[in-house]
Amino acid sequence: MSAAFTVAIDGPAAAGKGTISKAVAAHFGFAHLDTGLLYRAVGAQVLLGRDAVEVAHTLRAEDIDADVLRTSAVAQAASKVAVIPQVRAALVDFQRSFAARAGGAVLDGRDIGTVICPEAAAKLFVTATAEVRAARRYAELAAKGAADSLDQVLADVRARDARDADRVEAPMRAAQDAVVIDTSGMSIDAAVAASIQAILSKR
Ligand code: C5P
Repeated sequence: MSAAFTVAIDGPAAAGKGTISKAVAAHFGFAHLDTGLLYRAVGAQVLLGRDAVEVAHTLRAEDIDADVLRTSAVAQAASKVAVIPQVRAALVDFQRSFAARAGGAVLDGRDIGTVICPEAAAKLFVTATAEVRAARRYAELAAKGAADSLDQVLADVRARDARDADRVEAPMRAAQDAVVIDTSGMSIDAAVAASIQAILSKR
């Protein structure tokens, strides 16, 4: 594959993007950026009283600690700061530089195939029903000892979907040339295999 082969993987929360992105990156030897962590890092600082736009302009690598950013409260805060155009604009260069790195890159998010990397060599839109996604997220949170109920997780998933899909700036949607993978009835292995196949077909 050519040096800057970029794979864009978009889709709603808990559809399997993260798992698929990591597996795809490992399979091809590409670097991986979970762009949701950038918005989560900004959202987490806003929960501490800071200004979203200022944080987005001064984000440091040490603010991006995946473990502390994976809570429901931070997820909701992330999707609220993600509607602010100046926040999105402040994060563009970092994402595009990552995408252009030699050796290939996988970026996952909501607007990678549509806005950040419209020229990406391969684009996937990974989705699943809200009920299936909520059940997966609930199991993850419960395993970490979180007290959220399944109903609460489903309500959060729906609220975040609506905010992400309905915003004016870079709404979540499949790029016209994206391969859509619905993981609702799929095993992880099957979803990863389908994704790798879709990417290989773009070589
Ligand atoms: O992917 P994750 O669930 O960690 O993303 C958290 C939030 O960050 C999303 O709900 C969305 O509002 C925002 N986001 C975004 N654009 C991206 C990645 C994430 O707006 N490329």
